[in-house]
Amino acid sequence: MPETNPVERLMAATADDMAQVNTLILDRARSHVDMAPELARYLIDSGGKRLRPMLTVAAAILFGRGEGHAINFAAAVEFMHNATLLHDDVVDESDMRRGKPAARMVWGNKASILVGDFLLGQAFMMMVETGDIEALGVLSAASAVMAEGEVFQLAKTGDLETSAADYAEVIRAKTAVLFEAACKVGAMSGGADAAGCEALALYGLELGNAFQLVDDALDYGGQAGALGKNIGDDLREGKMTLPVILALEAATESERAIIASALGNAEASDLEVHQVVAIFNRYDTLKRTLDKAEHHAKAAIAALSPLPDSDMKTILAEVVEHSVRRAS
Ligand code: IPE
Ligand code: IPE
Ligand code: MG
Ligand code: MG
Repeated sequence: MPETNPVERLMAATADDMAQVNTLILDRARSHVDMAPELARYLIDSGGKRLRPMLTVAAAILFGRGEGHAINFAAAVEFMHNATLLHDDVVDESDMRRGKPAARMVWGNKASILVGDFLLGQAFMMMVETGDIEALGVLSAASAVMAEGEVFQLAKTGDLETSAADYAEVIRAKTAVLFEAACKVGAMSGGADAAGCEALALYGLELGNAFQLVDDALDYGGQAGALGKNIGDDLREGKMTLPVILALEAATESERAIIASALGNAEASDLEVHQVVAIFNRYDTLKRTLDKAEHHAKAAIAALSPLPDSDMKTILAEVVEHSVRRAS
């Protein structure tokens, strides 16, 4: 058998359920207003990893699948995620998503916002259909917290005083809470007891934290800041991610001035970005960001340890390491 990586093993282990999830996703993206499904399908068909819905399904399988509500929750989680991406690309003025022009570059910002709202509404319909009010509560809370996280990040844009604690709160809210909810409702619908639900919730939360930390290091080219790809978008947007926060903590006055002049400057040249990355490398802030991701990854794996051993548990643990390693 050819070597497979942990995400491929997760895909294989969830394939039957995910086929149902994908059918549901396509069904619920339909609308009598043509623009909505066209835009939604453009994003849905463009090759997202479907990591969050796979986690929902995997968490349910881990505990025995229960009544099968995980299918609805998984589709709802992916719709919530896609709605967030549509909105996020408007907020971040991003041109590309999943290797293609962002939906807003094809249909415009207004349509992206409205179709995002449509997907969010459809997500809640799918949750309500399960009749599981407790799981509905978990996902509703996550939806509110994610939006708050994006607002908090917006409020901190370009703010040189942003602390590492502020950043930790931003990534928890905008990213980790959806991973947490995805895993928790999966466990709940699979019939887990309270301890099992909490174990999966913590696993998801810590995986989500690690995932966003890696994403934020990769925006500067990963560990070495190698400048091998189009990097520095977060810097030009003024996004206060951990690499820049740690650098500002340690920087001399002249280094601080270099960072401040590039931060939030959409016109900053590649040379300016390069100078900022050189400062990061001086203080090892990309490596320290990835070390922090590794720390969260270990916490995610540890959260699973009280659970009985199974193939799915092994896969979930390996997926964490794989997600963190995509950086280096
Ligand atoms: C992108 O998430 C947004 C972040 C939290 C960094 P993914 O990397 O899971 O996006 P897709 O769904 O696979 O495109
Ligand atoms: C991720 O935020 C999207 C959300 C979790 C809302 P980012 O803005 O950092 O991620 P990308 O780089 O657009 O995927
Ligand atoms: Mg973005
Ligand atoms: Mg964003």
